[in-house]
Amino acid sequence: MNTRTSFPAYLISSTTAGVGAAFTTLTDADLDPGDVTVRVQYASVNFKDALAATGKGRIIRRFPCVGGIDASGVVESSSAQHFKPGDSVIVHSHGFGVSHHGGYAGRARVPAAWVNRLPSGMSALEAITLGVAGYTASLGIDLMELNGLSPTKGKVLVNGATGGVASVSIDLLAQRGYHVVAVTGKPAEADYLRMLGASEVIASADLPAGTKPLEPALWQGAVDSLGGAPLAALTRSMQKDGVIASIGNAAGLDFNGSVMPFILRGVRLIGVNSDNEPELRDRIWKRLGSDLRPRHLAQIAKVIPFAQLPQAIEAIVNGKARGRTVIDVGSASS
Ligand SMILES: NC(=O)c1ccc[n+]([C@@H]2O[C@H](COP(=O)([O-])OP(=O)(O)OC[C@H]3O[C@@H](n4cnc5c(N)ncnc54)[C@H](OP(=O)(O)O)[C@@H]3O)[C@@H](O)[C@H]2O)c1
Repeated sequence: MNTRTSFPAYLISSTTAGVGAAFTTLTDADLDPGDVTVRVQYASVNFKDALAATGKGRIIRRFPCVGGIDASGVVESSSAQHFKPGDSVIVHSHGFGVSHHGGYAGRARVPAAWVNRLPSGMSALEAITLGVAGYTASLGIDLMELNGLSPTKGKVLVNGATGGVASVSIDLLAQRGYHVVAVTGKPAEADYLRMLGASEVIASADLPAGTKPLEPALWQGAVDSLGGAPLAALTRSMQKDGVIASIGNAAGLDFNGSVMPFILRGVRLIGVNSDNEPELRDRIWKRLGSDLRPRHLAQIAKVIPFAQLPQAIEAIVNGKARGRTVIDVGSASS
């Protein structure tokens, strides 16, 4: 390994002034230990990345840390038998960009369990457009269907609808024949949401605001990126045996609800977490390459140069982004 190889990186540090991030130059010698070294082509900006880089969430577990909880690229070297130089891969979840240098750098070195080979015919750009967001959306749908979700049973609500997890969820659910109701704080994006496959678009402010433990039963399923009060409201308006995938916390961490929807309507609240063992990761990535392959990745992705990462982080932390913001790391590193 050439330890003098240098590359640009976006490093998150903690000082007495607080948590902040800045561009720097690293070398291979700065990378964390791991089985697989990847030349990063693309990374993305997830809500968690924005909380991490701005210090608005206590995400980073080891300072300094290169940010970026997902990346796609090409294997440069590997001591793991099942990866070889030249393999196109995606890296995400576990400690990546949290307690181990992440994807906002020309190179990443990681444990093999954090790496997946790209499904056949999927490009590095398509893979990072999915990234953690698409992986988690697919995992959520997989788990919801295992818990009874079916296109014949009623409407499926997707909130935070213009976000990354939600955009992929809408695309996948619509493709599978579900009647998708997109709920958004940006009603001006209704055309985008309909293009992805939403049958209805509702402004968050127009959702029924009842506070009884059991409100009219409207939804057989819900993909929740928000947590907080919106998640508690969802539990009240689920149909009998309805299924909620709890994926995110964009609106808050606290959840103040009643058990009545669970014990009187059999509502199922399923937690979805992307830190999975290789067997499950392989299964979900195979599905992302086959029966859970989104149709609108090109429209969901916004590709920007590495230098514009700080502005993209500001946009997402302020709820102003749409779809998936992809960082072209490779062209800055070559
Ligand atoms: N469980 C896991 O393993 C896992 C994996 C990936 C992501 N997540 C979580 O899932 C959530 C979504 O992630 P993402 O990457 O899709 O984020 P994102 O792209 O930023 O999408 C979040 C969306 O939520 C809405 N929103 C943002 N701030 C809000 C606020 N303060 N109140 C109400 N709505 C708000 C916005 O949509 P509208 O303007 O359209 O309403 C925004 O586009 C995040 O909490 C993330 O941490 C969890």
